[in-house]
Amino acid sequence: MTPPGKRYCLIAGYGSLGSALGARLIDRGDVVYGLRRSGSALPAGVMPIRVDLSKIETLRALPGGIEYDRVFYTAAAQERTEKAYRAAYVEGPRNLLAALAGRGAPRFIYTSSTAVYGRCRGEWVDEETPAEPEGFAGAFVLEGEEIFRRAAVRRAVALRLGGIYGPGRERLIESVRNGVARIPEGGPFYTNRIHADDAARALEHLSLLHDPAGVYIGVDRDPADLGEVLRWIAARLGLPEPPEGAPPPGRGSKRCRSDRLVDSSFRFRYPTFREGYATLLGKENA
Ligand SMILES: NC(=O)c1ccc[n+]([C@@H]2O[C@H](COP(=O)([O-])OP(=O)(O)OC[C@H]3O[C@@H](n4cnc5c(N)ncnc54)[C@H](OP(=O)(O)O)[C@@H]3O)[C@@H](O)[C@H]2O)c1
Repeated sequence: MTPPGKRYCLIAGYGSLGSALGARLIDRGDVVYGLRRSGSALPAGVMPIRVDLSKIETLRALPGGIEYDRVFYTAAAQERTEKAYRAAYVEGPRNLLAALAGRGAPRFIYTSSTAVYGRCRGEWVDEETPAEPEGFAGAFVLEGEEIFRRAAVRRAVALRLGGIYGPGRERLIESVRNGVARIPEGGPFYTNRIHADDAARALEHLSLLHDPAGVYIGVDRDPADLGEVLRWIAARLGLPEPPEGAPPPGRGSKRCRSDRLVDSSFRFRYPTFREGYATLLGKENA
C-alpha cells in the first residue's frame, strides 16, 4: 500500500514535456516515477521505469504495490507514421490502463493536441467545437482521449496542446535565420502555440484542480497569424521580412481559445508569442 500523505505521480513518456513537468512535481514534494523505453539516466529524484508502452508484457516492470494519485500520459509518436501514432496514442493508453487496473483510482491527465480539430478556415475553436480530425495523427490522438475517458469517466482530463515552443524548440526562429521561412500567401494563416514552460505548468495545474472538466485547450492567448509571427521574429533578429510562399502543408488555419483553462484560474507566463520569443531571443533583441 502507498503510504498516506505523499502524492505519487507516474509520468508515462518522460521526454521533453514530461521532464519539465517532473521537475515541477518534485519541487512540490511529490514522488515521481518517469517511464520511457530508453535506459538513459533520469534526473535525480525521479524513479526510472524502463517500459515500452506498446508492449504489454514489458509493463510488468511497473513497480508493484504503488497506487498512483496522478498519471500523466505524455508519450509521443516518434515518427509520422500510422504505426507509430497507433502505438503511442492507442496501444500505449490501453496497455497502461490494463497494467494499472486494480491499483487505486488515479486522475489521468493526457496530452492531446489541437490536431483533433482538423483543418479550419480561420474559425474560432473551443472545447465545445466538435473534434473532427482529418488526418490519421489527429484521429489516433483523439482515440487516446476516448480510451482514457471510457476507462476513467470523471477522472480523465485531456489537455489539447498547440505547437510547443521554448528552449530547444526554436524551429520557427531558425527558419527565419536560415532564410527558409515563408509568409503564407493569401493569409491570415492562424497558428496556435504554447511555451513549453506554460505547457508543463498547465499539466501541473490540471493535476491540482478540485473538479476538472474532461477537456481543456492548451494554447496561449493569441492565435496569431503566422505571417505576423515571422515578421516579428525577423524584425527582432534585424533581418528582412521573409518572402511569401505556400502555407505549411497539411495544416489548417484555426484560432483556438484557452478560456476554459484561464477560467480555471490558470495564468500564462507567456500569454502571447511576443513574451515567449522575446525570452528566447535574449535581452539584446527584446
Ligand atoms: N511537441 C508539440 O508541439 C506537441 C503538440 C501537441 C501535443 N503534444 C503532445 O505532448 C506530449 C509530449 O510531447 P514531447 O514533445 O515532450 O515529446 P517527446 O519529447 O518526444 O517525449 C515523448 C517521450 O515518450 C517516450 N515514449 C515514446 N514512445 C514510448 C513507448 N512506446 N513507451 C514508453 N515511452 C515512450 C519517449 O522516450 P523513449 O523514446 O525513451 O521511449 C519520450 O521520452 C506528447 O503526447 C505529444 O503528442 C506535443
